[in-house]
This record gives sequence, C-alpha cells and structure tokens, in this order.
Amino acid sequence: MRKYDFDTVIERKGTVCAKWDGMEPIFGTGDILPMWVADMDFKAPPEVVEVLRERVEHGIFGYTRRFAPYREAIAGWFERRHGWRPDTEWIRHTPGVVPALSAAILAFTQPGDGVLVQPPVYYPFFAAITGRGRRIVENPLIFSDGRFEMDFGDLEKKLEDSSVKLVFLCSPHNPGGRVWTREELEKFASICASRGVVVISDEIHCDILFRGIKHTPLASVSEEARNITITTVAPSKTFNIAGLSTAAVIIPSKRLRDNYQSVIDFLHLDGGNVFGTIALEAAYNRGDAWLDELTAYLEENLDFIEHYLEIHLPEITLIRPEGTYVPLLDFRSLGLSGPELQDLLVKKGGVALDGGHWFGTGGTGFARINIAAPRLLIQEGMECIEKAIKSFRK
Ligand SMILES: Cc1ncc(COP(=O)(O)O)c(C=O)c1O
Repeated sequence: MRKYDFDTVIERKGTVCAKWDGMEPIFGTGDILPMWVADMDFKAPPEVVEVLRERVEHGIFGYTRRFAPYREAIAGWFERRHGWRPDTEWIRHTPGVVPALSAAILAFTQPGDGVLVQPPVYYPFFAAITGRGRRIVENPLIFSDGRFEMDFGDLEKKLEDSSVKLVFLCSPHNPGGRVWTREELEKFASICASRGVVVISDEIHCDILFRGIKHTPLASVSEEARNITITTVAPSKTFNIAGLSTAAVIIPSKRLRDNYQSVIDFLHLDGGNVFGTIALEAAYNRGDAWLDELTAYLEENLDFIEHYLEIHLPEITLIRPEGTYVPLLDFRSLGLSGPELQDLLVKKGGVALDGGHWFGTGGTGFARINIAAPRLLIQEGMECIEKAIKSFRK
C-alpha cells in the first residue's frame, strides 16, 4: 500500500500554469493534452504543502534570507541520497538553474568565447550561451544500441580550441535519460581539467533514478573535478516546486565561488523567495519517503508506456531512461522532419510533446514525453499518440 496518492487527476487548467495554460503560442492551440514541460501533474509532498500552508496563514511575506539550517538541508540531502556531502560554505543561491548558467557565462566567459554543450540537450542551454554573444560549441552525444554515450575523442578535439572556456554538462542527461557512470565522469573531468575549462554540472534531475541506478556528482569523482566544477541542484523537479523559484549552486573552488557570487550580487539575485526557501528545507529534510514512492510510480508509468508501444505501436520505441521523467520516444521510423512530426502529433493526435529537434543536433525524429502524471493521463496520452500514428499509416 502506498502512503501517497499519485493516481488522482488534478485540474491544472486556469492555474497560470506553463504546461497546461501555455500551449497556444508554441503549438497553435491550447486544446490538446500537454505532455511537455518538465514539471509534474502531482501535488508536492504533503510535508511541503503543510509548511507552505502555515506560512500563508502567517500572512506576512517580506524580504527573506537563508540561514544555516537551509544549507544544512541541502548538504544533508546530498549526503543521504548521493553519498557526497558538500561543505555548507560552498553553497550559493540562484533563483533557478538557468539563471545560474547565465551568471556563470557572465562570470567565466567573454563575448566570442565558446561554451561546449552535448546535444541533443535541454534547449535553454543554447539561448543562455548565445544571449550575450558567446558561441555554442557542440560535442554531440553518440546514439548507439538505443543508448546515448559521450564522444570523448570529439570532446578532446573540441576543447583544443582555446576560446572554449566553459562546458555545460547535463547530468543526468535531459533528454537522453542517461545517468553518467563514475567511469564516464572521471574521463570527462580529466579531459576538461587538462584543458583548464570550468564545468557547470547541471544535476537538477539527479534525484529521479530508476532500477537501482546511482547518481554520481561530478565534483565527487576526483580532486581535479572538484576544483573545476560548479554544480547546480534544486528541489524543483524532484518535488514539483519549480514555480517557487529556488535552486542552489555548489562551488568548492573559492576563486570560482567568489566570481560567481560577484555576478549574483551585481544582478541582485541573492534575495530569495520565502516559499521556495521553506519548501526546499522541508523537501530535503522530510521528502525521502515521498520521493521513493514517486520513483516507483514513475517506473510503473515507464513499464506502461513500453508495454503500450509493444502492443499498439511497435514502430515507436521508448528510450528507456536510467533517470529523469522526460525520456525520448523514437519516431525515426516514420521518416518525418521535426516540424512534420510535431504537426502530426498536435493536429492528428491532440497531444503536445517537446519536439526532439528543439534539443539540437541528433534530436530530429525523436520527441520528449513527460511521464510524471497520473496513469490515466499517461494512458490518454498514449491513445493520442496512437491516433496520430494510425492516421499517418493510412
Ligand atoms: C537540465 C535542466 N536544467 C535546468 C532546468 C530548469 O531549471 P530552472 O527552472 O531551475 O531554471 C531544467 C528544466 O526542465 C532542466 O531539464
């Protein structure tokens, strides 16, 4: 018996919600089933909702600050869940992971410098790089035997370009679903350290792990990795509190930390959101049991999707993720371009998925599905996809 409820479908339309209310500008209609945007259609853990309720009733929402128990909650969570305890002194604030990426770009690069990414990858990386005149340098992942791998030879080659100053690692990888192994991360870190680049390790998806797979924080793999790594973490994906705009950055190197902080101070971003602050603390201190049940439920959703495809749509495959709740579906057998596939899914199926082509090189022919929803909605989504594909088969 589960203690927590993930089956109830909760109405989100009309709640100023990006996933359900924000489809029209992207898909040309708001009247389709949303399976895009990486948040969940589940309530946050009751342990989190309760502290927020108490705070609302307090009724005063003035300027906020984070104190020692806040940093202790982050360090304790990483120690318990990922076997790595960051020093609380290393922890800095960011209202979100993406603003931290932008701050790092301002702190560690100049216009014209290169920033390396591993596509197909979370697309806001691209805008963060080009927004202030930096260059995207690609080290595309290799897709082989249904699995994404890093191309280390190409990474070495790309980092020979001395104008590349910063690397964005997505770990676990969105949308590839890979949870990089310690061996892969050691090799990656050693190449990056030998080239003297700074690495942002975006570990926002690190808590959603399947089939006993463990996440390895990049900064934990070696001394050299620790010295070049800026780790971004957040309770937002894990506990469905992205709307509370609260995340953290872990920077062991004092030099990198001071540089990052100077940008945050300049942009005056260190204040914080009162609800996000207390929600982070509650989630990281009291969210373990909820997360364990959530992960088991998500794993059943993956089984459901895989089974559904086997029976109804054998030409489409799920790239079974080791982590993250936003895996790819492989539609490449249809031979469609990215926009054509999106059009088919929206117009014939009535379903919104993130287009694989949005994630850059290597993404075309895939679409990203958000599996963090009650089983009923997952079933509805699969029926929509089936409808689209059947209309294409005719
Ligand atoms: C890899 C990755 N980084 C960052 C984010 C967003 O972070 P934030 O909302 O904290 O800016 C997402 C959201 O989907 C993501 O997948």
